[in-house]
Amino acid sequence: ANEIIVSPSILAADFANLAQEVKGAYDANAKFLHLDVMDGHFVPNISFGPSVIAKLRPCSEAFFDAHLMISHPQEYIQSFHEAGCDHITFHVESDCNIQEVIDQIHSYGMSAGLTLKPGTDIDSIIPYLDKIQMVLIMTVEPGFGGQSFMHEMMGKVSTIREHANKVNPSLHIEVDGGINKETSKIVRAAGANILVAGTAFFRHPQGMQEAQKELTS
Ligand code: DX5
Ligand code: ZN
Repeated sequence: ANEIIVSPSILAADFANLAQEVKGAYDANAKFLHLDVMDGHFVPNISFGPSVIAKLRPCSEAFFDAHLMISHPQEYIQSFHEAGCDHITFHVESDCNIQEVIDQIHSYGMSAGLTLKPGTDIDSIIPYLDKIQMVLIMTVEPGFGGQSFMHEMMGKVSTIREHANKVNPSLHIEVDGGINKETSKIVRAAGANILVAGTAFFRHPQGMQEAQKELTS
């Protein structure tokens, strides 16, 4: 897992011009697109759901990387598959049978990821490391873009990387929240290989091409 992948979060994009924003991200060489789904219950914010994702699907060939911040993921996996998601990450704190949701995601041919809030211990994720394709370490409290990076989460990244080296060496480690030119270097050093960037990507003063360069250099 040496190649660094940028997964731009459309939460920071211009919602009135989403198609252009999404095309621009792919043209800037970001091969993933991060889709932050919030239900107003698991987190105190509401974003968008499968119908918006389905409309974006023809706009980009990017790998659609969904991050479900919703209380009942098991009820929506099929909808997100039909909308065109390639991957689904869900929260260990959500109200579901974790192994069943992993199996459900795989049954639709998608890859599966688990994530946790900053206050949740990684012991909740360790038993699943050999059953999933990605762990997402939140470096802000989920719910909103534009927050500051939490350095103290880097211990989680390095510990997950150590465990994964033993049981699942190809596991992707994604980080999400406050990732920019400076913090991208810190998370990569800790062992992350997929970087979510909302503000630093879609609101970069010099544009997305420059953002992509900064995050991968
Ligand atoms: C927060 C979301 C993030 C967020 C990142 O709940 O999961 O993906 O949009 O935004 P920035 O990069 O602005 O911190
Ligand atoms: Zn996210």
